[in-house]
Amino acid sequence: MSVHAHVFKGLEGVYVIDSAICLIDTEKGALYYAGYDVRELVEKSSFEEVAFLLLHQRLPTKSELEEFTSRLRASLNLESKHIETLRKHADNKDTLTMLAMLMVLEGGGKKGGDPGDLEAAINAIAKMGSFFSTIIRIRSGGDYVPPRKDLSFAENILYMMNGGEYRREYVEILDDLLILHAEHGVPASTFASLVTASTLSDLYSSIAAGILTLKGPLHGGASEASYAQALRIGSAERVPQWVESMLAEKKKIMGFGHRVYKIYDPRATVVKELIAKHAATMDSEAKKLYEITQALEDYGQKVLAPRGIYPNIDLWTPILYRMIGVPPDSFTAFFAVSRIAGWAAHILEYWRDNKLIRPLHLYVGEQPRKYLPLELREGS
Ligand code: CMC
Repeated sequence: MSVHAHVFKGLEGVYVIDSAICLIDTEKGALYYAGYDVRELVEKSSFEEVAFLLLHQRLPTKSELEEFTSRLRASLNLESKHIETLRKHADNKDTLTMLAMLMVLEGGGKKGGDPGDLEAAINAIAKMGSFFSTIIRIRSGGDYVPPRKDLSFAENILYMMNGGEYRREYVEILDDLLILHAEHGVPASTFASLVTASTLSDLYSSIAAGILTLKGPLHGGASEASYAQALRIGSAERVPQWVESMLAEKKKIMGFGHRVYKIYDPRATVVKELIAKHAATMDSEAKKLYEITQALEDYGQKVLAPRGIYPNIDLWTPILYRMIGVPPDSFTAFFAVSRIAGWAAHILEYWRDNKLIRPLHLYVGEQPRKYLPLELREGS
């Protein structure tokens, strides 16, 4: 049997869906959600508005936004069953896996496949926020703090995470990061969500698949890896020697490179602008991290850009994450809090014209052969 087929390793260059949710302009270096430039959304919009935009592919009216915001806020509330589960698993240091587990439990094995299930999407987005904040709160020895009706989504995340206290200037940073990370086409995590959704599994389980796929350092785990890398480097002066030794060993520099962008990641530009805007609130840790990161960007670009490898968003996000008080082992979990809006939007969109995702493999093993009993095998 001879098969003429080409295997697209890593699905590189393969279009897998039609989608109206996001456009990545890889020539200009720009990102649009349903036609709106993410830079403009970061500047003028709120996470609530962007979540609505992704789910509906249009901006809400004033009354629609009010209704959406209040539904989202109501779903932030946790019940005693959630809090008990959170307490029981609080010593599990893997925040991302905890989020996936809590999502699956929240879904309760409901049926999937309903493209109009906005209620589930809104609940999942909100619960991801309150699960995340409460995991951090309980781990630091505090108790669950219910959300407040007068606070925005970003404010409630900080409020619940810190047990009531938070700095006003961090709200803008957090809201902007949520917007910036809300959607990005079909990276591995979104694809995993779609693979799961395509079997008509439920929305929560499909999201859990996305959460767990975000974990690895080649994708969402890159921010934590990039932070650990900066700590290992230790000082801006050590950067050139460190980069050279990594490249000599054929190892990757975290926070550099992207499957889609062969230019500077436009999201990294926005993150850098945010850092500059809030530079006055940087503590000594953030300042040191900034110096190392800037040196890494400068030297790394010098040696890697000629190969189309540029800094990506995760080179810079650790500085903002640390500034707003996200523990390093929860960086990727924070990414999941924002990306869930994109995952949910893609799942609902896919269900409008569902088709089981089931690719083929090109067999390269032995041709059919006869089974030999154990005693007749060579060496027996
Ligand atoms: N440092 C050094 N070399 C690199 C890097 C890097 N960060 N990224 C790619 N390369 C080299 C790689 O070694 C390979 O070289 P060669 O052809 O000599 O074997 C070549 O570039 C192609 O690399 P690849 O990994 O096959 O290409 P890809 O399109 O699969 O890469 C990537 C995308 C993100 C997996 C890769 O750039 C990488 O591992 N980067 C570091 C991890 C990282 O920062 N990830 C976050 C991505 S942005 C956030 C998100 O959207 O998830």
